[in-house]
Amino acid sequence: MGGAADPSRDAFDLAEAERIAVAEIARARAFFGEDAVGATPLLPILHALQDAFGHIHDEALPMLARMLNVSQAEVRGVVSFYHDFRRAPAGRRVLKICRAEACQARGCESLVAHLAQAHRLAPGETTPDGALTLESVYCLGDCALGPAALADGALIGRLDVARLDAWIAEARR
Ligand code: FES
Repeated sequence: MGGAADPSRDAFDLAEAERIAVAEIARARAFFGEDAVGATPLLPILHALQDAFGHIHDEALPMLARMLNVSQAEVRGVVSFYHDFRRAPAGRRVLKICRAEACQARGCESLVAHLAQAHRLAPGETTPDGALTLESVYCLGDCALGPAALADGALIGRLDVARLDAWIAEARR
């Protein structure tokens, strides 16, 4: 799971993205064999691109479709299906709030509503000043201590409005 975004990583470089994709394809083929289904490693490539650039840039989609011999719609579908992939650079700080069942039972949706009302920030959005990105995740393995969140990659349990506001105030400083 990602922590604070490094703004220096957000400059997309198509040649570097191609190099990363080629390396992941070679790695998959070495592992699965040339003809195996698993030798089409779209997910590992997308993770590697997001690690490198902080998000999946539009220019990467046709490049990946061409390299993997799949349609652009297929690549776009995978990117939009998985909540982990960002289509735009993240803010300097990233808060991922768990919205799965156990955290729902412990009030996570009221925290999401508070974020929208008090901070004008909805899941998937970044504050206009680029300070903070809010994302949804679905179970962090900390269900007993929900509502749970990841703040710059650090697990927080028993999140409440006061702790949330304190973290946001510190993040926007
Ligand atoms: S449901 Fe939120 S940590 Fe498991």
